[in-house]
Amino acid sequence: MAQRTFLTLLAGVCVISLSGYAAAQDAKAVAKGQELAVKNHCSMCHIVAGKGGKIGKPLDEVTDRLDVAKIKEILADPLKEFPNEKVKMPKVAWQAGDIDAVVAYLQTLKAK
Ligand code: HEC
Repeated sequence: MAQRTFLTLLAGVCVISLSGYAAAQDAKAVAKGQELAVKNHCSMCHIVAGKGGKIGKPLDEVTDRLDVAKIKEILADPLKEFPNEKVKMPKVAWQAGDIDAVVAYLQTLKAK
């Protein structure tokens, strides 16, 4: 095999395995985000995956309505974003990576 062909093939294999790795990381983040959403009772106040409360706006398709940076700001400090709501969105003591995981999960939600 010509060396050039070999290198092209090798590069292709690397790209394919890297994208597989990224997909696995995403699936992990989504699962973690879902767990965090359950643990922190987001659906007490929001519709999440078609079910939940109506105190806040539905989180299904929230990532179409708001950009990711805005959602991260809200999750980091909900009282700063929504100081005047009757029912206050609680501030969660997130660990490193938690907010990214919740956002990854929210990105998978679609209104049913
Ligand atoms: C005690 C009720 C309550 C809980 C629990 C709660 N929220 Fe909220 N949330 C609110 C209220 C009230 C607002 C402000 C009204 C609005 O914009 O939906 C809000 C706003 C938001 C918004 C902005 C929505 C928009 O379209 O403007 C996002 C995103 C959000 N919450 C995510 C979450 C997530 C994720 C969780 C779980 C970790 C959560 N909330 C838990 C009450 C709650």
